[in-house]
Amino acid sequence: MRKPIIAGNWKMYKTWDEAIQFVEEVADKIPSNDKVDAVICATALYLPTLVQMQAESDLAFGAQNMHYENEGAFTGEVSPTQLESVGVDYVVLGHSERREYYNETDEAINKKVAAALAHNIVPIICCGETLEEREAGTTEQKVAGQIKAALAGFDAEQVAHMVIAYEPIWAIGTGKTATADDANQVCGAIRAVIAELYSAETAEAVRIQYGGSVKPENIEELLTKEHIDGALVGGASLEPASYLKLLEAAA
Ligand code: G3H
Repeated sequence: MRKPIIAGNWKMYKTWDEAIQFVEEVADKIPSNDKVDAVICATALYLPTLVQMQAESDLAFGAQNMHYENEGAFTGEVSPTQLESVGVDYVVLGHSERREYYNETDEAINKKVAAALAHNIVPIICCGETLEEREAGTTEQKVAGQIKAALAGFDAEQVAHMVIAYEPIWAIGTGKTATADDANQVCGAIRAVIAELYSAETAEAVRIQYGGSVKPENIEELLTKEHIDGALVGGASLEPASYLKLLEAAA
């Protein structure tokens, strides 16, 4: 049985005061991590304090990106060493916004996955198709290519502990959700790619999230599907009540 994982991706939202207030509000209401992994991916700027505030809680934190080098002359970047040193447990890699606006390539994402593993940070590897690709019927081909590139060079044991997020780009922040069956079909195709590359056992172990306009109203149906093990949530993770409802649905 795969434990569900609900990760809120706050993107570039929330002032300092708002972030602190959110965490204070949800602190004692997070379901046990025996049942669900609860993660908030905030700006790197806030992570050290949020991690310290929640040291005794079941709420974990993630970054939204990182460099693959441990240090160096990379102005404006955050390294895996730095994230590890402040106790960050997860990192979102290859989000479509990073791929589109910051020219992040499959090759760079593969290096970032390696760096995350080397620093005991769980990578949440994003993949997904554009509307044009979906309409052209090339969704599974696109996603398989992104996953194969991201996983190149890792062994089954490493892959089993990764998290993959399937996020159709046309469903992000648009209010349009893939139907639960469509999302499940693509998540199943991702699992099949992992089975082909590694083994059925490895594919069964990997957790695959769906992302794209997930909210309290649709999370339950998504989670009933065989291949959907949680969600990567933008907008609906910004309000404590809504984030907690997502966690409760998964717990
Ligand atoms: O990382 C999260 C996704 O981009 C989904 O965002 O829930 O606002 O559609 P959304």
